[in-house]
Amino acid sequence: MRTEHIIHETDARSLGSLDIPQVHLVVTSPPYPMIEMWDEVFMKMNGEIVLSRPIEAFELMNRELDKVWEGVDKHLIEGGIVCVNIGNATRSVNGSFSMFPSNVRITQKFMDMGYTVLPEIIWRKQSTAPNKFMGSGMLPPNAYITQEHEYILIFRKGGMRQDLKTMVDLRRSSAYFWEERNIWFSDLWQMTGSRQKLKNASRERSAAFPFELPFRLINMFSIKGDRVLDPFMGTGTTSLAALASCRSSIGIELSSDLVGITVDRIQNSVEEVQRIRAARLDKHRKFVETRQQTKEIKHVAEFHKMPVVTNQERMIWIDELEEVSKIQDSPVIIEATYK
Ligand SMILES: C[S@@+](CC[C@H](N)C(=O)[O-])C[C@H]1O[C@@H](n2cnc3c(N)ncnc32)[C@H](O)[C@@H]1O
Repeated sequence: MRTEHIIHETDARSLGSLDIPQVHLVVTSPPYPMIEMWDEVFMKMNGEIVLSRPIEAFELMNRELDKVWEGVDKHLIEGGIVCVNIGNATRSVNGSFSMFPSNVRITQKFMDMGYTVLPEIIWRKQSTAPNKFMGSGMLPPNAYITQEHEYILIFRKGGMRQDLKTMVDLRRSSAYFWEERNIWFSDLWQMTGSRQKLKNASRERSAAFPFELPFRLINMFSIKGDRVLDPFMGTGTTSLAALASCRSSIGIELSSDLVGITVDRIQNSVEEVQRIRAARLDKHRKFVETRQQTKEIKHVAEFHKMPVVTNQERMIWIDELEEVSKIQDSPVIIEATYK
């Protein structure tokens, strides 16, 4: 197998007119409207955003994101899926506290574009830090709920994909393990942290999501050889997860620092991706050992020569990354080959 990883350093709002191949899945996390960290980014996009008019500011920020969602629609195949990771902002403006529900606003935009809304995932990071309560201490009724979760909103363009009918073998070899399905398709995810500190970049924090997040979504909602788009690529976590899942990717990012970080990350990823594969197989092996103590496992994955719970896992094959090499500079294209 071969995959291709394209990286464009540009403004995602021009995505609609960008010359890129069609994509099968979108996994992304935009700047979050009304979260302080992103104020400057949004105010550069639209000079009319005034934070002291928070409801209007929230809407104007979302209108900038709308341009990207419309661009996504231009390149996504019929039946393709969009996964948007977003957190709602809570903020006091002019002495008045409220929540800014980006999950609702973005869902409404995709409904307006005719997308089917699929069940969402709520996830939170494991945290050892004490909760930061806001409001009136121990005295009811004016304290506020602490927001420690984020959403993965999931939308489908039109009906089910029709192209899969002719790709039966590829689809079967893209299967996930039964025990992975049981966790991945739950609506509540607990995640461990991501690399947040940035070196040699204009921003201190990456705002990266944990690798496991795009990795699961890519394996849940695409098959091998598909192309995954992230219009807010950041440090390239989606591109790396696509590479590790034998999918091609397209990443778009405005910051040249982050484009450089991503290119390095992908070019030096072979050992890391091989470790991810080994850890996944090892986890399955351990699951099998435990399950076999109480239940018989009837099926065998033919290529991995491992017991599996269902017939649908029999042809599963997790490709082993062999080599990555940059074949073009602008836009950057990195090619990957697998055993
Ligand atoms: C929440 S972060 C995404 C982090 C990414 N998921 C990761 O794992 O590193 C949003 C990213 O969007 C980028 N961004 C903001 N506005 C943009 C625009 N108009 N076009 C392209 N990228 C933009 C920011 O520089 C930032 O890296």
